[in-house]
Amino acid sequence: MVTVTFLTPPMRERLVVEVPENSHVTLLKLMERYNLPKTCICGEGKCGSCAVKVAPMRRSARVVSLNDIERRELLRAGKMSREESESHVLKDIPPRWRLACQYEIADEPVLVAF
Ligand code: FES
Repeated sequence: MVTVTFLTPPMRERLVVEVPENSHVTLLKLMERYNLPKTCICGEGKCGSCAVKVAPMRRSARVVSLNDIERRELLRAGKMSREESESHVLKDIPPRWRLACQYEIADEPVLVAF
């Protein structure tokens, strides 16, 4: 199981949920399952409305992959600079913002804020 912790001002406390490793459920599906208050319009990586801050809760370095849809929309929405995008590609530094409709839970515990 992998832990996903949600933190958002409308909630009084953190919401911590356990998800089977590599279930590939998206953050958006998880947020819908727990009725978390976040606007998500298209569900297809085209509008940027679902951008959330995602912080890995593991100290070890790991490979981070964004698909082209997510990278393009985060750039367009101003949630990621060209410099940050290049850092992600060249140095494997994870971006702060991710699209909840594109981010799939794998095997890394994360903190999600919005
Ligand atoms: S809901 Fe539109 S980009 Fe995710």
